[in-house]
Amino acid sequence: MPSEALQDKIARLKQKRKAVILAHNYQLDEIQDCADYTGDSFELSQIAARSDAEVIVFCGVHFMAESAAMLAPEKTVLLPELAAGCPLADMVSPEALREFKQKHPDAAVAAYINSSAAVKAESDICVTSANVVRVINSLKQDRVIFIPDRNLAHFVSQRTEKEIIPWNGYCITHHRVYPDDIKRARRAHPQAAVIVHPECRPEVVELADEALGTGGMIRYARETEHDEIIIGTEMGMIYRLRKEHPAKKFYLLSAGLICPNMKYTTLEKVAWSLENMANKITVVPEIAEKAARTLQRMLDIPSN
Ligand code: 13P
Repeated sequence: MPSEALQDKIARLKQKRKAVILAHNYQLDEIQDCADYTGDSFELSQIAARSDAEVIVFCGVHFMAESAAMLAPEKTVLLPELAAGCPLADMVSPEALREFKQKHPDAAVAAYINSSAAVKAESDICVTSANVVRVINSLKQDRVIFIPDRNLAHFVSQRTEKEIIPWNGYCITHHRVYPDDIKRARRAHPQAAVIVHPECRPEVVELADEALGTGGMIRYARETEHDEIIIGTEMGMIYRLRKEHPAKKFYLLSAGLICPNMKYTTLEKVAWSLENMANKITVVPEIAEKAARTLQRMLDIPSN
């Protein structure tokens, strides 16, 4: 079916199901176009928690749909493609975390939102790239186990007095960026600013002008006087940035910045899951109760 016909079909099904479509900033262009809201992990979790729709179609990866299901337990959450996972989230299991916690009994556990519900249930509070420093500084403990991203752990350790105990995980997409990529991009576009995601290696963050989550990158592009910006995160961001700022130039920092999991969701799959109410994401109540508290503690922290 051609893309326009699919968009129409989705619009009809959306009305019929009283559904809202949420898309992460890394989604395919046409998915971003058909979404009601496009945003970063934090924004999308806030929208899911407040939405009055009956059905949430989550165009993103599994942990995002799981978080929406826990924050909006009375709603049906659909993940159009069940195979859309997050290798970073899979780098920590609840069993391994329980063992690690025994070695650091005085430390709080901060879980990046890129983690499973079962891991969140073992943690004290969630963080996203949009609020990580604020959330860590709000904790009463002086030592914090930070799971699962070691690069984000390093990023926050440079911006807090707390002792950060990192987990050894990483995002396979952001970890593929090297300092040489920044040097090459700056040579090619000497006037451009370089912004990277804090999931990049510390030596990459060091060479960038700013390290920001995807929501922060959107704000940066709105506020900066730079007309050219080199983007060090998943390539889906470029579509949204070019759409919002047609007069500015955006360059992808490295050709390797593509997350296959974020590209699994297609218009066909969105239409199919809405039509059949397929791929409902649920979390078992014992885990959901604890993990929702971990997420809610993050949402309760004032933004300033
Ligand atoms: P943001 O919260 O910055 O959108 O990041 C989500 C993510 O999965 C990065 O890899």
